[in-house]
Amino acid sequence: MTRIVAPADTQLLDVRTRRGFGARFGRAAEFVITAPGRANLIGEHTDYNDGYVLPFALARRTAIAVSPREGRAVCFSSALARGDVEFSLDEPIVPRGEPAWGDYVRGVVAGCLSAGLDPGGFDAWVDSDVPVGAGLSSSAALEVAAAGVVERLAGASLAPLAKARLCQRAEHEFAGVPCGIMDQMASILATTDDLLLLDCRDNSWRQVALPGSEVEVVVVDSELPHDLGQGEFALRVEQCREAARRLGVRSLRDATREQLSALAGYPVLQRRAQHVVEENARVLAAVDAIRTNDWTHLGVLLDESHQSLRDLYEVSRPEMDDLAGSLRCAGALGARMTGGGFGGCAVALFRAGSRPERLFSGE
Ligand code: GLA
Repeated sequence: MTRIVAPADTQLLDVRTRRGFGARFGRAAEFVITAPGRANLIGEHTDYNDGYVLPFALARRTAIAVSPREGRAVCFSSALARGDVEFSLDEPIVPRGEPAWGDYVRGVVAGCLSAGLDPGGFDAWVDSDVPVGAGLSSSAALEVAAAGVVERLAGASLAPLAKARLCQRAEHEFAGVPCGIMDQMASILATTDDLLLLDCRDNSWRQVALPGSEVEVVVVDSELPHDLGQGEFALRVEQCREAARRLGVRSLRDATREQLSALAGYPVLQRRAQHVVEENARVLAAVDAIRTNDWTHLGVLLDESHQSLRDLYEVSRPEMDDLAGSLRCAGALGARMTGGGFGGCAVALFRAGSRPERLFSGE
């Protein structure tokens, strides 16, 4: 089954999350904090190579309803997963606790405490419209919302980059995924209307407007489960590091096409590096195509990105290739897998008003 990831009603989510809190904890929630999932238009597997990305926020969010409680105990409970996440702020917060989803929130609260933000004891109920395991950063949305909860309770706020780094650290150290910074930055800074051009070397960013009167980006879930923890993601990160080391550059951001022949003896590393070097160039070309309203070229860049992820980076799956292909057949100017890969979602670019009403049977 494939389905369009349609916008969800934020107000409904708010009501549902408050209701869930009430049913679980027997009192009213004091406040609700939300954070969005993201999709990436182009710039895949470039963030941990100090490169460029171009994500946007989804109109789908993770919400946490919260009420403080006496003492130093914290309890997270969720509509989406079994098992409560319980710990004390006075004891060391450790990774790899049960249930496993709790690692994200444990990691964030631990990071906040070491940054000097103490929330005091609280109860929290988590609900979400971001499909889990679909490559839309449900984990970053959970981390960023959890950080927002601690900020609110501690009466202090973190700068966007500090908050993103803290959430990224939770993912690295508690969940064991060596991700880049795109997902967390996108969840904090991106909007649903604009693209976020982020330079992952100096973490500078700017919004890039995509005129809705001209084009529309559609996100489609392949409903193939993807799991970044399975080792393939970490392997790509390692291969990129190794390629940069062999090329004598700080990171693949600094490598050029001409240099790639030096990796001829290491075909896998060469393919990975070629993807990163060309994908970075494609992001900048995409921003240029948007500036000049060259939608045909933007579509071509999306297609090229997909081919590169399939052939050079080897993170696609035949079903994802078919999905991107059927989106093109349905009239998309370009389509590609989005996110880490091995399943998850595709993004497709349509001229405004040109998308067939029903993209897939049964929709
Ligand atoms: C995952 C990671 C991101 C990024 C993408 C691939 O979503 O969490 O940091 O590396 O894969 O672009």
